[in-house]
Amino acid sequence: MAIRSGFSSRLGFVAAAAGSAVGLGNIWKFPFEVGAGGGGVFLIMYLAFCFLLCFPVMVAEIAIGRKTQRNPVGAFKVLGFPKWSIIGKLGLVSGVLILSFYNVVAGWAFGYFLEMIMGNFTIGEHFGEYIKDVVKVGAYGLIFMGTTAYIVSKGISGGIEKAAKLLMPTLVIIMLSLVAYSLTLDNAWEGIKFYLVPDISEVRLEVVYKALGQAFFSLSLGMGALITYGSYVGKNENIITSAVLITFADVGIAFIAGLMMFPLVFSQGLPPNGGPGLIFVTLPGVFGSLGGGLGIFIGSLFFLLLSFAALTSTVSLLEVPVSYVVDELDIRRTKAVWLVALIIFVVGLPSLIGNGYSAMFTNFITYLGDEKTTNFMDFVGHVANDTFLPLGGFLISMFAAYIWKKPKFYGEISKGYPGFENSIWSKYLGFGVRYLCPTILGLLFILTVLDRFFGITVIA
Ligand code: TRP
Repeated sequence: MAIRSGFSSRLGFVAAAAGSAVGLGNIWKFPFEVGAGGGGVFLIMYLAFCFLLCFPVMVAEIAIGRKTQRNPVGAFKVLGFPKWSIIGKLGLVSGVLILSFYNVVAGWAFGYFLEMIMGNFTIGEHFGEYIKDVVKVGAYGLIFMGTTAYIVSKGISGGIEKAAKLLMPTLVIIMLSLVAYSLTLDNAWEGIKFYLVPDISEVRLEVVYKALGQAFFSLSLGMGALITYGSYVGKNENIITSAVLITFADVGIAFIAGLMMFPLVFSQGLPPNGGPGLIFVTLPGVFGSLGGGLGIFIGSLFFLLLSFAALTSTVSLLEVPVSYVVDELDIRRTKAVWLVALIIFVVGLPSLIGNGYSAMFTNFITYLGDEKTTNFMDFVGHVANDTFLPLGGFLISMFAAYIWKKPKFYGEISKGYPGFENSIWSKYLGFGVRYLCPTILGLLFILTVLDRFFGITVIA
């Protein structure tokens, strides 16, 4: 068993977990998912899922981690339910898959930082070609994975905690400045309207499970990342307060990212459903229009901070399989880190190559029977984000409610929150893990599998 060195301060855990939550999911993925999901409708569903549905799952993950001081596979064994460690195993697979493509996108962000330094504001117009340059983008991906591995090999260091505490506020300030700027542009309010005013005709099942997948992804839930981080938390920490803070930090940054993007997108006359290229296509031109020196400064700072936000997330994604390998296979931390990082980088190669470079991975067949295709990165997203994370959330809430059960589950929370059992939180949590989460997550899991992999769309 590895020695668990805990977080340095009470806030250390919240900072690290918020660092895990806040990442490309908020700034890159969220705006284009809103764009594809018809705007305000997606936003409302996302907010509802984060606060109502994800909250009980988040609390359960942290409590399981703190109780057992283990990785997501070992945790269920320690609690005496080895069969349920399937949750952790599923989480390991999800973590590997998510990091494999996440790292590719993080590499783009880092590459854009370099382009901005060089004042190359036209890069946005060449995004499509940029991501086909596998040597360049591959090198950035390698640098990114290497940095992630280096940090994880040092343990949950005070370095990344401190860096996150300094960098996150800076990121918020830059984003808010860009919000202010973007609101002055022509058509800005069209963008705000699209973002904030829901259009009921956009309510589709597709939007529901996209919003749910996004909520889980954004909060780093459903794969045991917070079981892992929870395993480093002190017993006097109030899990409920922590979960509230983490959720607010995450949702807040995503919300600001939307306020920043949609006025920009509409002012440039671009379609809001521009897909994964959205920020990479739109922003460089905007930075360019700020004028030489200022554009270089703001542009490079933005993509640098985006890279840092991504880094605190990749660290948490890598920590999950690493903590498993260290705890359960008894391999030294340093060796485990580099081994796992290498494997994940290799798993990510089709995502890297699949962006138009090689047809083999561009037109990847996802449906069993049907000939509908997608690129490899999207395929991994369908499997890991849309399918595995909700399934993981379903199983975690079932476990907390019906296997671990109330006295032990609540007992763990009460350690840092005397009086919890008589609070309103405990009532909501009970309702959440017993009824709300299993029903909705289970249903969405089934509908998603049918739709994504069998081409059967029950509700369009
Ligand atoms: N939440 C991160 C983001 O929004 C990504 C991430 C980090 C994640 N760790 C995770 C997603 C664990 C799912 C599970 O960018």
